[in-house]
Amino acid sequence: MKGLILSGGAGTRLRPITHTSAKQLVPIANRPILFYGIDDMAAAGVTEIGIVISPTTGHEIQEAVGDGADFGVTVTYICQDEPLGLAHCVLISRDFLGDDDFVMYLGDNMLEQGLAGFVAQFKDVRAAAGTPQLGKGPSAPPSAQILLAEVADPTSFGVAELNDANEVVRLVEKPTNPPSNLALVGVYLFDKAIHNAVAAIEPSPRGELEITDAIQRLIDDGHTVVHDVLSGWWIDTGKKDPLLECNRLVLDSLEQRIDGDVDADSVIEGRVVIEAGATVINSTVRGPAVIGAGSVIDRSHIGPYSSIGVDCRITRSEVDNSVLLRRSSVTDIPRLTDSLIGRDAEVERDQRRPRATRLMIGDHCHIGLE
Ligand code: DAU
Repeated sequence: MKGLILSGGAGTRLRPITHTSAKQLVPIANRPILFYGIDDMAAAGVTEIGIVISPTTGHEIQEAVGDGADFGVTVTYICQDEPLGLAHCVLISRDFLGDDDFVMYLGDNMLEQGLAGFVAQFKDVRAAAGTPQLGKGPSAPPSAQILLAEVADPTSFGVAELNDANEVVRLVEKPTNPPSNLALVGVYLFDKAIHNAVAAIEPSPRGELEITDAIQRLIDDGHTVVHDVLSGWWIDTGKKDPLLECNRLVLDSLEQRIDGDVDADSVIEGRVVIEAGATVINSTVRGPAVIGAGSVIDRSHIGPYSSIGVDCRITRSEVDNSVLLRRSSVTDIPRLTDSLIGRDAEVERDQRRPRATRLMIGDHCHIGLE
C-alpha cells in the first residue's frame, strides 16, 4: 500500500498566511499540520509516500519534509502545475502509484484516530471479499473505502447518501441541499480502479476534477465503495477558527516539559512546554500552552491554548487561544485572543496622540477590533 498526501492547492481561505507559506505548514502545537499526517501514515505501516506540491509553496514543503527519513518513510514529490482538483492529483500521480492500492490524505486535515485502523480495515475487507463463502464464489473486493463524519453544516464538504442497507449510493460535492449530514473526511482508500474513474470525469462547476465525482463514477461503474464512520475528532484546518480548534485539541494531550529558562518571578501552571532556548521573565504561563525555542515572554500572561512559535516576543501583554508563527511579536496588548498571527508580524499598542488605530495590513487580512 502506498500513500498520497495532497499538499498543493491555493489555500485561499487562510490568506494572508498562505500568500507566503503553504497552509499545510501552518503549525498546530508548534508542528506543521502536514507532519501529523506523515506520522499517521508511518504508524499505519505506509512508508512509500507521494506528496503533491504546488510550484509556489512546494519548495518550502520539500525543505521541511526532506526525503522523509526523519519520519521513517520515503517521499516522492509530485508537482501539480495548477490546483485543478483532488482527482487531478491522482491523475498526475499515476506513475508513482502504479497499480498499487493507496491511501490518499488531504494535507490540511487532522484526525484524532489516525490511519492505522482505517488502512487495516481496507486490507481485511479486500482479503475477505476474495475468499469464497460457503456455497458461493468469491465476492468482488471493494475498490474504495471512504471515511464519513457527521457535521453540522455539510454544505462545505463532499456529502454521502446511504441507503437503508447502509450502503453508499450517492456522493455530492458541496451541495446546496445536502442529502445527509455525513461529510467526506479527507482520507480515502483506493485500488487501481480509481485511475479509470479520474480519467473519465469532467471538471465541476468550480473548475476542479473532484474526487467525490470520481468515487461516484466508481459506484456508477458497478464497483463497491465501502465506508466507515469516524470516531474521534476530525478537523479540516483550512480556515482560522477550525485551525484554532485543532490547536486546542492537540494541546489538550500535551505533557509538561520545561527545557527553557523560567525566572523566579514567573509562574508556570499546568501542561506547558517551554522549549530549550525560550525565556520566561516575570510572567505567567497557564497551560495547555507551548512556547517555541528562542521566544521571550516578558511581563506577560500566556493563557490556555496558546502556541507561541519559534523566536517570538511577547512583552507586557496577555495572549490566549492563539497561534503565533515564528518571529512574530506582541507588545503592550491587554488581551489578544482567538488569533492567528503570521510570521514576522508585529502587534503593538501605539502610544502616540491622537489616540487612534494605525494599521499597515497586507492583502486579505482580517482584523477584529474591540
Ligand atoms: O476536508 C474534507 C473535504 O476536502 C471533503 O469533504 C471534500 O469532499 C473535498 O473536496 C475537500 O474539499 P476542500 O474544498 O476542503 O478541499 P481543498 O481545496 O481545501 O483541498 C484539500 C487539500 O488538497 C489541501 O491540502 C490542498 C490540496 N489540494 C487541493 C486542490 C484543489 C491539492 O493538492 N491540489 C488541488 O488541486
